[in-house]
Amino acid sequence: MIKFQGSDQYVATPDLMLAVNAAVTLTRPLLIKGEPGTGKTMLAEEVASALKMPLLQWHIKSTTKAQQGLYEYDAVSRLRDSQLAGVEDSARVRDIHNYIVKGVLWQAFTADQPVALLIDEIDKADIEFPNDLLREIDRMEFYVYETRELVRARHRPVVFITSNNEKELPDAFLRRCFFHYIKFPEADTMRAIVDVHFPGLKQELLAAALKTFYDIRNLPGLKKKPSTSELLDWLKLLVAEDIPLAALHSKDDQVAIPPLVGALLKNEQDVTLFEKLVFMQRHHR
Ligand SMILES: Nc1ncnc2c1ncn2[C@@H]1O[C@H](COP(=O)(O)OP(=O)(O)OP(=O)(O)O)[C@@H](O)[C@H]1O
Ligand SMILES: [Mg+2]
Repeated sequence: MIKFQGSDQYVATPDLMLAVNAAVTLTRPLLIKGEPGTGKTMLAEEVASALKMPLLQWHIKSTTKAQQGLYEYDAVSRLRDSQLAGVEDSARVRDIHNYIVKGVLWQAFTADQPVALLIDEIDKADIEFPNDLLREIDRMEFYVYETRELVRARHRPVVFITSNNEKELPDAFLRRCFFHYIKFPEADTMRAIVDVHFPGLKQELLAAALKTFYDIRNLPGLKKKPSTSELLDWLKLLVAEDIPLAALHSKDDQVAIPPLVGALLKNEQDVTLFEKLVFMQRHHR
């Protein structure tokens, strides 16, 4: 098995690589938590491509049910077809297999080659959702009652599960996973991440932008801390708008509000808080 070592597009810290390889070795799902925008979803994509596996993605919403990942029986289509069917179609209508819609897990279980499976944002669903998948994740099989068949995984998929911590996950579910929390990147890691997205960015601009970014993140009482992806957005704008370095640098006699701060701060309270801080700094000089 190839070990995951990060990629050209994705910066993985040593502890993250260790976690990925541990989950693969244990053949347990890797449960990844971390602030929004810390690369949880992208990790699954990158590992899949590093291991040369197709990635099947299941994005969870508040209305998603576990059963949808297995299969759904499309009774409505069957009823409609039965009403409209001519003689030649009636055989089709009679065969219930034609109305079983395979879900992502079914596809993952029956794929010709080992695949990676991403169950993204599991905490969006109701609390029954993870419990309803215990057996499938454990035994890698499920039963289709309508057709009386057992679907069993030909190859155990490499499973990634992400959560933003909106809900606690049940203990029985946690027991079956390998857990990793993606810590918010430190400045060095962040520099490496930025370098992946903007190779050759001017070092002074990057240093000034990172300082502003971490200053904002460290503001006490901030409602929403800006994330990696927001920093990347902001840098993209700074580059595109050709913002001069001076606009970011706080000169000795003036501290200015950085341009395009709307890329980083997403609500008016946070902007006010930040403006207050800048104002105070200016007057304490
Ligand atoms: N380690 C990293 N290396 C390279 N790019 C990264 C990294 N972490 C985050 N990014 C950038 O941040 C963006 C957001 O990442 P991603 O969508 O995977 O975050 P997430 O943790 O799934 O966020 P959310 O919880 O909001 O879904 C990526 O598209 C990528 O551009
Ligand atoms: Mg995500």
